[in-house]
Amino acid sequence: MKLIRKGAEADLYLASFEELYFPWNQEKILIKKRISKGYRNPDLDHELRVRRTLHEARLLHEAKTAVNTPILYEVNKNECIIVMEYIEGMRAKEWLTEDTALQIGRSIAQLHQKGIVHGDITTSNIIIKEGHIYFIDFGLGEFSTEVEPQAVDLHLLKQTLKSTHHETWQSLWKNILEGYKERENAEEVISRIEDIEKRGRYVKR
Ligand SMILES: Nc1ncnc2c1ncn2[C@@H]1O[C@H](COP(=O)(O)OP(=O)(O)O)[C@@H](O)[C@H]1O
Ligand SMILES: [Mg+2]
Repeated sequence: MKLIRKGAEADLYLASFEELYFPWNQEKILIKKRISKGYRNPDLDHELRVRRTLHEARLLHEAKTAVNTPILYEVNKNECIIVMEYIEGMRAKEWLTEDTALQIGRSIAQLHQKGIVHGDITTSNIIIKEGHIYFIDFGLGEFSTEVEPQAVDLHLLKQTLKSTHHETWQSLWKNILEGYKERENAEEVISRIEDIEKRGRYVKR
């Protein structure tokens, strides 16, 4: 088992399926363990981590009916651990083509259509493996069919694109919207993004 990343909330480990369970295949697995925050009251801290772990696992699992997500292997409530399939690919942050952007738009549409809001669609939370789009990190997600949170979801992605792909973000964003338009009610959500941007400018002044 190897520590691959220390996040703000969780440590991420890479291991083989065999190492954790039994000889089966060459599958790699990812272990996400929510770590305690020293500055929080210990009971509250544990309760929060349990709640977030279960919430993330539930959304990760539910989202699978709409988009590609890692297979969920195990949830350990007390240890605040989620064990899932390791997606061996590139993050959208490192590798994003116009065609991938179109596919990302389509996938987000599928997710929203199923009433799932990701809550943190950044180019670090999208992995591309063999041309397929995978979503990870559902910890901030929610179940909602409302226009507002869905528009906020897309707005965040737009903001991230601007910062990670400052040369090409406009054409990528155009393709994401193009893909997103394949769902019902797409226009309503897209025009709400514009409202959110206007509100943002108003607040800044
Ligand atoms: N199932 C997975 N397969 C491959 N890489 C992953 C997987 N889950 C997480 N990662 C990697 O670890 C990083 C952080 O994981 P994430 O779940 O997004 O935690 P955080 O809440 O810290 O952002 C991701 O950006 C990705 O690079
Ligand atoms: Mg993340």
